[in-house]
Amino acid sequence: MPLAKGDSKKGAGLFKTRCAQCHTVDAAGGNKVGPALHGLFGRKTGSVDGYAYTDANKQKGITWNDETLFAYLENPKKYIPGTKMAFGGLKKDKDRNDLITYLKDACA
Ligand code: HEC
Repeated sequence: MPLAKGDSKKGAGLFKTRCAQCHTVDAAGGNKVGPALHGLFGRKTGSVDGYAYTDANKQKGITWNDETLFAYLENPKKYIPGTKMAFGGLKKDKDRNDLITYLKDACA
């Protein structure tokens, strides 16, 4: 399944169980183990103020959008070799579509 609109409710559930221990999405959330994801879409890799990124993440130099997140979240360590994000990836295309659909609203 390619990139497609997913189910935002399912995406919210995935965020809670797979991402929320390390990331926040709301404006007041701030950085945790991982950088704040508020305002993620349209932002360059590694650009949250006050967050200590790896050089690998900073120097990836792409803009976060549906396509780049779809590729990244399948296998973060393959997309950004040297990242310190300890997450194996969401292998199912449907899960990534659901999650990205949720994130688009939640991070805005
Ligand atoms: C165990 C903690 C952990 C989990 C779980 C985790 N992350 Fe991360 N994430 C990180 C860390 C740490 C970084 C910073 C990586 C670096 O600097 O190399 C990061 C970086 C990112 C970035 C890049 C942000 C930027 O500003 O460039 C995105 C996007 C992201 N994570 C999304 C997610 C999503 C979506 C999930 C759930 C599917 C998730 N992460 C799960 C810890 C985590």
